[in-house]
Amino acid sequence: MTDALDPSRRIVVTGAAGGIGGMTRPLLASLYPGLVLSDRVAPADLKPAEKFVAADLTQPDELAAALAGAHSIVHLGGHSVEGAWDQILQANIVGCYNLFEAARRAGVKRVVFASSNHAVGFYPRKRKIGTDVTVRPDSRYGVSKAFGEALGALYADKHGIAVTCLRIGNVGPRPLDVRRLSIWISPEDLVQLFRIGLEHPDIRFEILYGASDNAASWWDNSRARALGYRPAGKAEDHRAHAEAEQARIGPDPVGDLFQGGTFCSAEFTNDVKRAGP
Ligand SMILES: NC(=O)c1ccc[n+]([C@@H]2O[C@H](COP(=O)([O-])OP(=O)(O)OC[C@H]3O[C@@H](n4cnc5c(N)ncnc54)[C@H](O)[C@@H]3O)[C@@H](O)[C@H]2O)c1
Repeated sequence: MTDALDPSRRIVVTGAAGGIGGMTRPLLASLYPGLVLSDRVAPADLKPAEKFVAADLTQPDELAAALAGAHSIVHLGGHSVEGAWDQILQANIVGCYNLFEAARRAGVKRVVFASSNHAVGFYPRKRKIGTDVTVRPDSRYGVSKAFGEALGALYADKHGIAVTCLRIGNVGPRPLDVRRLSIWISPEDLVQLFRIGLEHPDIRFEILYGASDNAASWWDNSRARALGYRPAGKAEDHRAHAEAEQARIGPDPVGDLFQGGTFCSAEFTNDVKRAGP
């Protein structure tokens, strides 16, 4: 960071050493010259030109140091799959609270929060949902993402931070199976959504779906489109690959009914007729 830099370009990315961090860092660096990468561990492939500040989300003092001078945050850090309660509690509940509170104290203007499709994973695949539905988490992980969205709403309403929650489907170069044909997002399209959260003048509090232009989508993402989102990725272009991979996975009698897939079938003890209407 240099003092001459446009302050609105000072963006801190948490969880920068993770998978999405790796896929989006080069794109973000070209847009935001003051980019600061943060994580509890440095990215293995950290470039000399990249600025990295170590911070554990469970340590408020470390977060305060990482956020000094930041205009905005892309919050990717946390436990990114289902886990034991204490793992989720520390990284995604305590950690997310610490992040928003450190942001408030540092005068941060905008936060883009990496929420997840697993906040609404128990909606049936046959139902198309918007961003106004009640959360229906499919896991402790999904509950933690619903918590993060609620926390974002609190800090937007009470403290005026412009918060964008992205219910990310699955990020990667192409969809990995049939479920991902409905929820896939390319790294480039995800960065487009990051930019909307970081720059769009109308953002107060938003929940958007992090999905490319997927013909088999289960989500109404019209609010993202109204904010200018024009995804270029199309999952259908990769259907043959996804179906071939699916054939290797085999059926999941519970997970195949619901949007969250295996996150729904894991630890499931209910009758499917009673779950996720
Ligand atoms: N990858 C996807 O398709 C996808 C889909 C939906 C949501 N998300 C969300 O997006 C975010 C990034 O996902 P990812 O795939 O890059 O995950 P990842 O697991 O690859 O990366 C997460 C990063 O967070 C860091 N982290 C974990 N606990 C931390 C702590 N206590 N303090 C500081 N850093 C900590 C880890 O070191 C890791 O580098 C996550 O919040 C995840 O829940 C990802």
